[in-house]
Amino acid sequence: MSGIRPTGLLHLGNYFGAIRNYVKMQEDFECYFMVADLHSLTTHPDTKELKANVHRVLAENIACGLDPDKAAFYCQSHIHETAELYLYLNMMAYKGELEKTATFKDKVRSHPDNVNAGLLTYPVLQTADIIIHRAKYVPVGKDQEQHLEMARNFANRFNHRYGEVFPEPSAFNYNQDLVKVPSLDGTGKMSKSENQMATLYLADDDELIRKKVMKAKTDSGPGANNSPKPDYIENVFLLMRLVSADDVIRKFEADYDNCSIRYGDLKKQLAEDMIQFIAPIRQKVNAILEDEKYLRQVMEQGAEKANRSAAATMQLVRDAIGLNYY
Ligand code: TRP
Repeated sequence: MSGIRPTGLLHLGNYFGAIRNYVKMQEDFECYFMVADLHSLTTHPDTKELKANVHRVLAENIACGLDPDKAAFYCQSHIHETAELYLYLNMMAYKGELEKTATFKDKVRSHPDNVNAGLLTYPVLQTADIIIHRAKYVPVGKDQEQHLEMARNFANRFNHRYGEVFPEPSAFNYNQDLVKVPSLDGTGKMSKSENQMATLYLADDDELIRKKVMKAKTDSGPGANNSPKPDYIENVFLLMRLVSADDVIRKFEADYDNCSIRYGDLKKQLAEDMIQFIAPIRQKVNAILEDEKYLRQVMEQGAEKANRSAAATMQLVRDAIGLNYY
């Protein structure tokens, strides 16, 4: 089970980090992937853009290979019983531990005028999302580790108080090291919030991709044969390894090693290979976005699967708590 916030466009880092994991998991497990539309209300109370954002997240993930016939792909707000489980879990979540959460402290700093209770209990709702399917494996990045630890605590607390209902959820990834996609300016990784020109989005058009790649940081070239690569050059090669053919990569590696490399040519090649990779995804996203009927059908089908699983869990939960008087 995993959740995706419907804010902002997906970029190459999301693709190689999260989505590729989902696409693989759907072959190996019974999966629930959720658009976290309710979570977005904690920081984005204005819902004017919500529908468009939800549609985009659905379309982008499907275009990248998430298959709504294999995994349940649904919206958080369509599973009403999550709100019920959230209420029960709130009775077991302590103010002190919620206030200590790193993401809460960040949000208090960035939105001091809107420190609402939903923000404080964000990890409780996330726990409800996960354990309502009694999920064991949660494919998430490093930034979600603390939330996952809290989910384990809340699930265990429930089990101790009312009897074993939930397995322990834990973060899941196929490869030990998540693929980090470096940003084009040589600092850190691609990110929604930082330098937009250093991040490649799945929605970028060909010209913009070219422009961004050509701006990638390079220098005047290595000074001696077989020199180690500076970080920002290694980053360009890393990006190339994600999208370019083996012989192309080998050629530029050899050129680097014998000091004949021309970074202009390298970046031109990388730009074209990026376009070959991103353009078909972008076109698929746009085609899906045009087909509202299909998107509706995906959401209905996902909600139906997710609701079935949620209803079964909630029966166990109410019985365990003792909310069964008749
Ligand atoms: N908090 C997650 C994020 O910021 C989104 C999310 C909501 C989630 N519910 C979840 C992730 C359940 C995993 C499981 O990206």
